[in-house]
Amino acid sequence: MCGIVAYIGHREAYPVVIKGLKRLEYRGYDSTGVALLNGGNLKVYKKKGKVAELEDYITGKDLKSHIAIGHTRWATHGEPSDRNAHPQMSGDGKLAMVHNGIIENYTQLKKELLSKGHQFTSDTDTEVLIHFIQEIKSSNQCSTEEALRIALKRVVGAYVILIVDEDNPDTLIAARKGSPLVIGVGKGEHFLASDASPIIEYTKEVVYVNDYEIAILKADELILKNISNEIQTPYIQKLDMELAAIEKGGYDHFMLKEVFEQPQTIFDSLRGRLDAKAGKLTLGGLREHMDMLKDANRIIIVACGTSWHAGLVAEYMIEELCRIPVEVEYASEFRYRNPVVGKGDVIIAVSQSGETADTLVAMESAKEKGAIILGVCNVVGSSIARLSNGGVYTHAGPEIGVASTKAFTAQLAVLCLIGLKIAEAKGSITGQRFQHLLDELEGVPDKVAIALKLNDQTKAIAAKYKDARDFLYLGRGYNFPIALEGALKLKEISYIHAEGYPAAEMKHGPIALVDENLPVVFVATKDRYYDKVVSNIQEIKARKGKVIAVITEGDQIISGMADDVIIVPESDELVAPIISVIPLQLLAYHIGVLKGLDVDKPRNLAKSVTVE
Ligand code: M6R
Repeated sequence: MCGIVAYIGHREAYPVVIKGLKRLEYRGYDSTGVALLNGGNLKVYKKKGKVAELEDYITGKDLKSHIAIGHTRWATHGEPSDRNAHPQMSGDGKLAMVHNGIIENYTQLKKELLSKGHQFTSDTDTEVLIHFIQEIKSSNQCSTEEALRIALKRVVGAYVILIVDEDNPDTLIAARKGSPLVIGVGKGEHFLASDASPIIEYTKEVVYVNDYEIAILKADELILKNISNEIQTPYIQKLDMELAAIEKGGYDHFMLKEVFEQPQTIFDSLRGRLDAKAGKLTLGGLREHMDMLKDANRIIIVACGTSWHAGLVAEYMIEELCRIPVEVEYASEFRYRNPVVGKGDVIIAVSQSGETADTLVAMESAKEKGAIILGVCNVVGSSIARLSNGGVYTHAGPEIGVASTKAFTAQLAVLCLIGLKIAEAKGSITGQRFQHLLDELEGVPDKVAIALKLNDQTKAIAAKYKDARDFLYLGRGYNFPIALEGALKLKEISYIHAEGYPAAEMKHGPIALVDENLPVVFVATKDRYYDKVVSNIQEIKARKGKVIAVITEGDQIISGMADDVIIVPESDELVAPIISVIPLQLLAYHIGVLKGLDVDKPRNLAKSVTVE
């Protein structure tokens, strides 16, 4: 979704901001723009399309400036176009603003401004807000900072905004509520961005701005205030991230790099937590919540997309290991159906980005009802992590490809740790099974490395089926959510229609789709459902469907039935999903690439969905 970048300091600001916008391209966007103060004059350049197109458009212009703001816009109010791109300007042309988020009461504000003679050139809520600030500034004869503070008290919605003011050429103003904002603190310079990726190459010292805070920045000064104008102390943290983590490192795409990083990222998600030799499991972020967890009446997992699929796998794990009922909710639905949440319920919010608006809103509503919230997040310091009462980071490192891969397997590993930890505390697992599962989990990174060796074979299968119009993905038990995830990956990356189903449910409807043109991907590793899945494969073959099966090594039965097989190492069914999803990620990747699509930035998608 929208990305913001800004710079103020001793360097030329434009190259810093353009490079930063390129770092944020992974978030998904459809137009882009920058504002800078050149020779004291406010200049705004913006364009529909990619950052490279903006660069071409600006070539030859005098861009000298030590202060600049930039934006990548993912359209909400108004189509992607030059005029709707940010920055948006005030009516007097003195203020320029970039904005992430949505101003929900913009229609009312616009009506008021129109009655006062304001004219608008875009369809955006952002232009309304900057006009509103200017209106307050001129009617109250106050500073931009003061006008912003007054305006924000009227604003309903979520935002990060950055403002440059022609009359204050050495000051940048930023404000946040509900959308992320990171400030990089350098020597005589400051960097601002939606996440740390545009900042990391300049400084590792960062401040995460909190909701309802306003930052007033000069090259060598950072003042943080709350909305009541009280000074806040900025908490400077050290970024635990290397530049290499956000570069492609020789791979053709971030997605492929991230798929191949999984042996390491799964290991990282277990590191310091799992000690199979000693039979020990440590989850510091859950320690003080363990009594409540083991006595929970119910665990409710809220998440979206791929993280929701991780939640579904966790439902199987936790119910089996802990004998606690688990419900997995689409965060977007949970909030608005007035759910019954009470004492004894524990909410687990699962999110890669930690910024997904639907998940945040679901958490807030559960919190209001008195529930305890635990977070399973990848991005340290993210909004979801901060709203949680406790939790476990997944430590998969920055995920740049829009299609989530390594974050998913890290979520599965961490959710498995959580299930085991609760089961241990509750005494709902035997010592032998506990130890066996610790050993199994410890072995997962090596088995994932073996599964990745199937890359070329998977590519050949992708070439065979890339022109199919639809795909069906089927699995049972722990592999059912993996079928859903496989289908989602294919949809996102290749734009081929794909559906995931529990394998047995297929005969209650989707079987009508089966003919010789339909590839059906079975996630059919050896588990308690195996014989039943074999029958389901027969049902598809009897109707001439093409079967691609992910199977366990040594499986002669499905090998003899399927059109194509992908063989993964044997593992306990509880950890099998972390391995069986690997070939599905590769299949989607190769089909997308073979179709000539931009797999890292699929159309219409955003990496973190910060609007409801
Ligand atoms: O950052 P989150 O995990 O909260 O994001 C949730 C979904 O938006 C995300 O998983 C989305 O479905 C991905 N594009 C999946 O690849």
